[in-house]
Amino acid sequence: MLDDKTYGELREIAARYPEPRSGLLPMLHLVQSVEGRVTPEGIEACAEILDISAADVSGVATFYTMYKRRPVGDYHVGVCTNTLCAVMGGDLIFERLKGHLDVGNDETTEDGKITLEHVECNAACDYAPVMMVNWEFMDNMTPESAVQLVDDLRAGAEVTSTRGPRVVTWREAERVLAGFPDDLADAGPAAGPASLVGLGIARDRGWSAPHPESDAGDSSTAGSKTEAVEQADTSRAETETKQEEGKE
Ligand code: FES
Repeated sequence: MLDDKTYGELREIAARYPEPRSGLLPMLHLVQSVEGRVTPEGIEACAEILDISAADVSGVATFYTMYKRRPVGDYHVGVCTNTLCAVMGGDLIFERLKGHLDVGNDETTEDGKITLEHVECNAACDYAPVMMVNWEFMDNMTPESAVQLVDDLRAGAEVTSTRGPRVVTWREAERVLAGFPDDLADAGPAAGPASLVGLGIARDRGWSAPHPESDAGDSSTAGSKTEAVEQADTSRAETETKQEEGKE
């Protein structure tokens, strides 16, 4: 049941945008934070506030996989089974967790604590195999650490993301996605060593990106961009050649 406070916050979200219907995605997250899923009442509320049809809202809510029509547990646990994570152990982790939790894909444990889902690439392939708890990263997982993770969550132990804050409940995380911050956004490390390897190599070798401002005032922008890229490629090749020669 959506109360007056929630209706007020739904209107507040819609009012953030020049086109109110642009607020539909965060509004649906707010519905999930209150109801634990996108309910028919939540759909009607969004439709009424945005002056669009319930079918329009349903079309959005059923298109994106982050919107759930069935109740989600206290913690949404995602296992990346996209190509790189899968071959690095994601498939094994997912199978182990299905057995350990006695649930299938997109199902919730009997105690209502964990909803397990296999998810697509999280752009964190440098930490494969990756899991997500309420969309916070858990890097370099193994079947054993995955079992420990869900056991800790079920036991109410404090769990911290590898590259983020302590894990909150799914409903609390949904409220943040609705645009109501919990002030944890800057907690924990923002980037790990694996993501910065390329930067270190570029610095060691003196590589840098071409500067867009060097094109300013040049009428043949496309041509100068091409030249800048060619120049960068050339200097990179020269650096590599010198380094190779130095090894010999
Ligand atoms: S394949 Fe898993 S994060 Fe990219």
